[in-house]
Amino acid sequence: MLRRSESSVATAAEVDQRLAALGGQFRDRFSQADSEQELRLARADVLGKKGALTGILKLMGAVPADQRRQLGERVNGIKAEVEAAFNDRLAEIRRAEREADLNAAPFDLTLPGRVPALRGHLHPIRQMRDHILEIFQSLGFEIAWGPEVELEVNNFTKLAFPPDHPATDMQDTFWVKVEGAPSDVRALLRTHTSNVQVREMSTHPPPMAIVSGGAVYRRDDDITHSPMFHQVEGFLVDVGISFAHLKGVLTEFAQRLYGRGSRVRFRPSYFPFVEPGAEMDIGCVFCDGDEARRPSCRVCKGTGWVEVLGCGMVHPLVFAHCGIDAEKYTGFAFGVGVERLAMLRYQVPDIRIFFENDPRFLAQF
Ligand code: PHE
Repeated sequence: MLRRSESSVATAAEVDQRLAALGGQFRDRFSQADSEQELRLARADVLGKKGALTGILKLMGAVPADQRRQLGERVNGIKAEVEAAFNDRLAEIRRAEREADLNAAPFDLTLPGRVPALRGHLHPIRQMRDHILEIFQSLGFEIAWGPEVELEVNNFTKLAFPPDHPATDMQDTFWVKVEGAPSDVRALLRTHTSNVQVREMSTHPPPMAIVSGGAVYRRDDDITHSPMFHQVEGFLVDVGISFAHLKGVLTEFAQRLYGRGSRVRFRPSYFPFVEPGAEMDIGCVFCDGDEARRPSCRVCKGTGWVEVLGCGMVHPLVFAHCGIDAEKYTGFAFGVGVERLAMLRYQVPDIRIFFENDPRFLAQF
């Protein structure tokens, strides 16, 4: 008992002594600090883990109970003083910094802005797609959109593809598994934008003139074929529409795209959903009119013509599948290959360059 109270008495005296030593010196330290960082360091010397006041607080546990209360009040009072002095000095420092800021030479509001070194833009294929859509819009076509994951009915069946048509084959088409779907409901990545014809004709009565654009997918991959590419689809349905309307609209399109001098030709072709069907060629933009260059032209392979789209008169079966009266209405439809037109326009020999996204290539558009 004796020893313990002796040591306790000594401790109380020690606390007293150390408090006295601490005195007001923290005030001097704080007022000498010129920045917030310096001030915080000074505060840590008092109140931090190894700070002077923290050390004193640790001793308090050993002070005899009858003195602890009074001593404790003193210690806490000093602690509050330290906090107050810190906050006062912090406010002073911040005020001074703000003032220095306001008094500094004003920055020049008329300096030109910094231009970013690399500025992005739309992808060339997207630019070409929009350009094609705009041409048809200016001819009175409305824009509609369709999904890239499509049901078999909208991509094939209603377009009169027979069930065993090679295009429906696993080798040609990306089929998509639909969890929980009945076995006769099949989905796929659309192989063309003609699904939009089906969707629009099934939900709207004629007359209609619609264009749509977007990505399509086929199991194809070489210098002129990519497994993903883009098409613009268009169709017009009304009373009295003939093949002459088709030729007129598509010739106008080609000339708006490649200039008034450009020539087109229509060749008979087959698609299950049109009758008659055709392919439209454009006079090769690289060698047309230059007999000497033509034989070695890589773009048209010496023919002078480049195929750019499929087209035809909407097949009566398609009208029937979509609930349109084929006795009353006729219409034409076409599907343009966007990459094909972009390759021609920009003289790009390999379709895959468009999708490598090399900035040195893209920056040229
Ligand atoms: N859908 C056809 C294709 O992808 C193009 C086409 C569209 C042909 C409309 C005729 C009419 O090749």
